[in-house]
Amino acid sequence: MRFMNKTIFAAAASLLACASFAAWAETVVTIDAAKPGAVINKNVYGQFAEHLGTGIYEGMWVGPDSPIPNTKGWRNDVLAALKDLHVPLVRWPGGCFADEYHWREGIGPRKDRPVKVNTMWGGVEEPNWVGTHEFFDLVELLGADAYVNGNLGTGSNQEMAEWLEYMTSNTKSGLAELRRKNGRDKPFKVAYFAVGNEAWGCGGNMTPGHYANLYKTATTFLKAPHDSRPKFIASGGNDNDVTWTTTLSKEVKDNIDAISFHYYTIPTGKWEVKGAATGFGEGEWISTMKNTLAMDKLIANNVKVLDQNDPQKKIGFYVDEWGTWYDVEKGTNSGFLYQQNSLRDAVVAALNFNIFHNYADRVRMTNIAQMVNVLQAMILTDKDKMLKTPTYHAYHMYVPFQDATTLPVAIKDNGAYKLGETAVPQVSASAARGKDGKLYLALVNTNPNKETEVTVNVAGGKAGAVQGRMLTAGAMDAHNTFAQPDAVKPVPFTAQAKGGKLSMKLPAKSVVVVNVE
Ligand code: AHR
Repeated sequence: MRFMNKTIFAAAASLLACASFAAWAETVVTIDAAKPGAVINKNVYGQFAEHLGTGIYEGMWVGPDSPIPNTKGWRNDVLAALKDLHVPLVRWPGGCFADEYHWREGIGPRKDRPVKVNTMWGGVEEPNWVGTHEFFDLVELLGADAYVNGNLGTGSNQEMAEWLEYMTSNTKSGLAELRRKNGRDKPFKVAYFAVGNEAWGCGGNMTPGHYANLYKTATTFLKAPHDSRPKFIASGGNDNDVTWTTTLSKEVKDNIDAISFHYYTIPTGKWEVKGAATGFGEGEWISTMKNTLAMDKLIANNVKVLDQNDPQKKIGFYVDEWGTWYDVEKGTNSGFLYQQNSLRDAVVAALNFNIFHNYADRVRMTNIAQMVNVLQAMILTDKDKMLKTPTYHAYHMYVPFQDATTLPVAIKDNGAYKLGETAVPQVSASAARGKDGKLYLALVNTNPNKETEVTVNVAGGKAGAVQGRMLTAGAMDAHNTFAQPDAVKPVPFTAQAKGGKLSMKLPAKSVVVVNVE
């Protein structure tokens, strides 16, 4: 102190003031319950099941003759777990696989179906045992909507049009009669139909303008009875590229209900070495948080374009592939995209949900990639065993947000979680009025080292107590194994107001979903 000159002293004093401010400033989350916003379409919690690795065969479909208990070939343990998640929608058969899929090969007696090579994923045999009828068995068993992805890449307009007629026609047409012969009298309910997938890449390496023309032609011939017309989805862009949204929303005026978008969270940000699913350091924890939060800006950029070209908001923006993408687990087929799933994945899922809710008026569907055994999965299986991943638990905790009405949330004095040059907001929050009339609040603490205290206010009302569930674990990469399937699972969470103030302590690296009373 003896050697401090005036300037240094002033600087030190202001630093001290900041430090003490940081010590007592607490994050305040205020929910405006009087200003309901858009409804969060339940299909924001949609799933994706592609013919990829063990995602369908083994992971879900074992066939009716399997010793693994099943219903119409679909594993009972997996079905029960997925039913608990209230899975609202399943996208099938791909992904990149969709542009190589020929639906006629997947109908009729299974023993007569041709065996193909799945050239997209692993070069393995594709027996076509799961086809149109089996897929609809799955969605009907789950009570979910069906999202069928058509083949634009190696298919034809005729093939797509006939598939739609086969599924939806209630006439005595040859195709409807063929469906009946194959065991299904009533038409299937196709809620969504996409024309191709990733047309910029595996779907044909096209330019947006070329695809827009093909889309217009294809949808001209996609017919279904008036009362069961699916919503038509155009294959859009990915990452930072808004040219697909721009071109499609300008050039396609008819038969377009949504434009799709894909964005994956890669810890390193590099496809060549993506980062490991477990055993990573804090550097990859924070980069994963940062790369996940980038979703917000990516959606905002596309929504801005849509707001200009489609101010009536007829066109939805569907993030129909998202999730973490890591290096595959050692010893597994690199074409199977099998990865472990840790607490980090649950935090990633919750951050994405909170972002999607903010764009509920445009983002009316999203599909995590993928449902079982592939990328950021809900469920992992090993022969007759199965486990629920931390991501599964995040989905389960957020079920009350399906079809809930968004409520504005303001976060004051949100701290930053920093490591080196990287910083992300410590708290992410989202609130909604559930279909049951209750007020739900979801909070995420991105900091893996520190708990954080959050004061919860309800503007114009009172927050007396909260109750719900919390998901956290000791290690950043804590995960469930077949030996310890419940190592990471939610626990009850409650807090009571004291002296008129409701404070919630969010543990480090946690997801909390509560009902505010
Ligand atoms: O989800 C895996 C693959 O990722 C999908 O098949 C493709 O659309 C995307 O590139």
